[in-house]
Amino acid sequence: MITSNKQSNIEEEQFEMSLRPSNFDEYIGQEKIKKNLNILIEAAKKRGESIEHVLLFGSPGLGKTTLSHIIAKEMGAGIKTTSGPAIERVADLGSIITNLNDGDILFIDEIHRLSKVVEEVLYPAMEDGVLDIIVGKGPSARTIQLELPKFTLIGATTRLGMLSAPLRNRFGVIYRLEFYTDEEIGQIVERSSRILNIDIDKTGSRSIAKCSRSTPRIANRLLKRVRDLAQINEQKIIDDKISKQALDMLDIDHIGLEPADRELLMTMIEKFNGGPVGVQTVAAAFSEEPQTVEEVYEPYLMKRGFLERTPRGRVVTKAAYEHLGLEFPEEDGLFS
Ligand SMILES: Nc1ncnc2c1ncn2[C@@H]1O[C@H](COP(=O)(O)OP(=O)(O)OP(=O)(O)O)[C@@H](O)[C@H]1O
Ligand SMILES: [Mg+2]
Repeated sequence: MITSNKQSNIEEEQFEMSLRPSNFDEYIGQEKIKKNLNILIEAAKKRGESIEHVLLFGSPGLGKTTLSHIIAKEMGAGIKTTSGPAIERVADLGSIITNLNDGDILFIDEIHRLSKVVEEVLYPAMEDGVLDIIVGKGPSARTIQLELPKFTLIGATTRLGMLSAPLRNRFGVIYRLEFYTDEEIGQIVERSSRILNIDIDKTGSRSIAKCSRSTPRIANRLLKRVRDLAQINEQKIIDDKISKQALDMLDIDHIGLEPADRELLMTMIEKFNGGPVGVQTVAAAFSEEPQTVEEVYEPYLMKRGFLERTPRGRVVTKAAYEHLGLEFPEEDGLFS
């Protein structure tokens, strides 16, 4: 049976929803952020106010959306979610914000993709709780100011650098979500297994954790694939053997690099001698959008120390050559 992309996306979303932690205790890792947020929330509750605007940034799948929902729940607030590209016109933003209730949270995903005009309307809304709207046309047009419900904006972005300074400055707190340790990912895999009624032992959860690029979303996806194979093989308990077998079938190596990651590194090595090379050039040679290269591939490769961003461009490191089983071209020294 062929499932359309759309359908598999919906399934994927439902799968993620079912595994989404709903409170701070279930949300594993990110201890500093949780501690800070707890203080923020408790203090706001005591004062009977909403919390300050929060900006969350970090690589895809690290738990930004999940965290926003937890914040809303802990505040006992309603949450309305939208995204930067979805708010095309000022009127779209207007109708979303004016429909909020006092104390509600407005979650804007991919907030770096808001258009300039929408962004500028957002400033007074965040700062003074008002919305300036223009009524009428031509010479008789005038601006009226609408008083807005007291709301908290939670913005999420994978690209802090693409956020304009004025927007960034209007957030009371900015949190950077970190990659997770293998230990934490192991706990996430075990938690997900409990929810999905999967029997897994420590060796199994650990081997999935090692290959999950330190990212909960990837860990959960791999768990699903490993479970499928275990079911086909009628194996009751997932151990490291069956998970390694599944990972091999997916061509994921022992540190979690996928074929595309290795291909990206190989492109840089074969076509550009390992760099330095600009991201635009690499992306073109790799047939991907520069944005995808920067957001999806590079963060983990950099975290592993396989790639460096230098002022002159991207450089593949010695560690990457070694991982790929290639000889590192030592630079010709002055005296050689
Ligand atoms: N700290 C965590 N503990 C347990 N599970 C987590 C945690 N963070 C994320 N997850 C799981 O990973 C999945 C992805 O998380 P989420 O959708 O919040 O990521 P995101 O940062 O919003 O990603 P994107 O940038 O793609 O929007 C969730 O379904 C959730 O089950
Ligand atoms: Mg998200």
